Amino acid sequence: MGRTSPHLGGVLRFPDGFGWGVATASYQIEGAVREGGRGESIWDRFAHTDGNVLGGDTGDVACDHYHRYRDDVALMAELGVTDYRFSLAWPRLQPDGTGELNPAGLDFYSRLIDELLAADIVPWVTLYHWDLPQRLEDSGGWPERDTAHRFADYATRVHERLADRVQHWSTLNEPWCSAFLGYAEGRHAPGRRDHAAAFRAAHHLLLGHGLAVQGMRANDRDSSFGITLNLYPVDPASDTEQDRDVARRIDGLMNRLFLDPLLRGSYPADVLDDVAPVLDASHLQADDAEIISQPLDFLGVNYYTRHVVTAGPQPRVWTPDQPTSSWVGSADMVQVKRGLPTTDMGWEVDPAGLHEVLTRLHREYGPIPLYVTENGAAYPDGVDSDGQVRDPERVRYLAEHFRAAHQAIADGVDLRGYFVWTLLDNFEWAWGYSKRFGLVHVDYGTQRRTPKDSARWFARTARAGGLDAGEWVR
Ligand code: FCB
Repeated sequence: MGRTSPHLGGVLRFPDGFGWGVATASYQIEGAVREGGRGESIWDRFAHTDGNVLGGDTGDVACDHYHRYRDDVALMAELGVTDYRFSLAWPRLQPDGTGELNPAGLDFYSRLIDELLAADIVPWVTLYHWDLPQRLEDSGGWPERDTAHRFADYATRVHERLADRVQHWSTLNEPWCSAFLGYAEGRHAPGRRDHAAAFRAAHHLLLGHGLAVQGMRANDRDSSFGITLNLYPVDPASDTEQDRDVARRIDGLMNRLFLDPLLRGSYPADVLDDVAPVLDASHLQADDAEIISQPLDFLGVNYYTRHVVTAGPQPRVWTPDQPTSSWVGSADMVQVKRGLPTTDMGWEVDPAGLHEVLTRLHREYGPIPLYVTENGAAYPDGVDSDGQVRDPERVRYLAEHFRAAHQAIADGVDLRGYFVWTLLDNFEWAWGYSKRFGLVHVDYGTQRRTPKDSARWFARTARAGGLDAGEWVR
C-alpha cells in the first residue's frame, strides 16, 4: 500500500461534535457466561452444539471483558474514543427473558456506564445484539408474537434503571441477521431453517422494536431512540431484466423490508407480492404498522460491502424445497465478485457503497439523523517480534470509508458519528476467533491487548476531528 496520489494538503474536517466511536457486542467480548446469575442465551446453546462455530469456539471466555472492563475503558480513553456503542446481554438482565431484573447484571452494566462517564466517553446502549434468552427460544423465539412483548418489557425495565446516565438507546442490531441468518439459513443462533419462521421473526423483531420505543419513550421523553440496520447497495450484475429483478428482490429483503415499515409505516408492496405465494400474513395485525413506525431520533447504519447480484441458475419463484439462501437474500448464491481487494471475510472493499447507502437514506427516507454504527475490516493480524501489530490494510480501509462518509456529509447527509467495528479482536459468530476485526489485538491465551497501528491512526484522526485529505486516495 502507500499513497498513490499527490498529497493534497489540508484536513477533511468532520463537523464539530462528530462522534468518534467504537462498537462491540456482549456475547462477542464479555465471557463470564455463567457468572452473576446470567441465564443461557441462544448463542451459548448454538456455539456449544458441534459443527456450528468454526473450531468449536464459544463465547465462554471471549475477551473476558466482564472482568476487564475497567482496563478496556481506559484503553478507549487512550485511543481518543468519544462514544462507545455496546450491547446488553438480555440473559444477564433477565436470565429467563421475563420478570424482575437480575441485580448482578444491572450492577455490571451500571459500573461499566459509570466508568465510561468518568472517562468522558458517551455510552450508546444496544438492547439486543442477538443473545436471546434460551428460555424464550424454547417458547418459540422471535417467530412468536409474545417475544416482541417480552423484549419491550425487558427494554422498558432496563431503560428505567439506566436512563439517568444513558441518553442514546438503540433497540436492535441488524434484525435481518437475527431473522434470516438465525431462522432461515441456520448459520447463526438459534440455527433453524424455516423460511416462513424467518419472516415472522423479522416482523416480531420490528414489532418488539416499536413496542420498546413506545414503552421507553412513555417513561422518558429526553432519551434518544433508534435502531441499527445492516444496509447494502444491491446492484444487478448486468442490465438484463432477470438481473435487475434479482437486485430488486434482494434489495427488498435486505434493505427495504426493514426501512419501509420503520420509516414509512408499511412493508414494500413488491416484497409482499414476492413472498405471498409461500407466506400467509396471519401474523400481521392491524395496528402493527403504526407501532413499528414510531418516530426515531436516529438510524444506525452498519456498512461493510456492496452486493452485486445475478439471476444465476436458480428459479425466480421460490418453492419450499429450495435452499433458503437462493431466495431469502443471502448473497452467497447470487453474488458476483468484481475482483476488488477483499478483507479476510472475503468481502469486497467498496467505500463508495457507504456513500451510496448514506445518500440513499437521506434522499429516500430522510430527513433523519444518521450514525455509522459499524464499519471495519478483518485482516489476519499478528504481533511482530518487536511487539507491534502492523495493519496497513485496515488503516487504508478505514481512511477510505471515512472519506466516503465525509463526502456524504458534504452532500447534505445528516451524519453525526461513526463507530468503528470494533475495539477488540473478538468472537466473530460462526467464524469463532478466526477473524480479527479489532483496532486492538487480543492474545486469547493471555488476554493481552496490543493496540494495532490502526488504533494509533484512529486516535490521531479522532483527536484531529478529521483526516488528512491526501491520505490513501487511490
Ligand atoms: C455485523 C455484526 C457484528 C460483527 C460484524 C463483523 O454483522 O453486527 O457483531 O460481527 O458484523
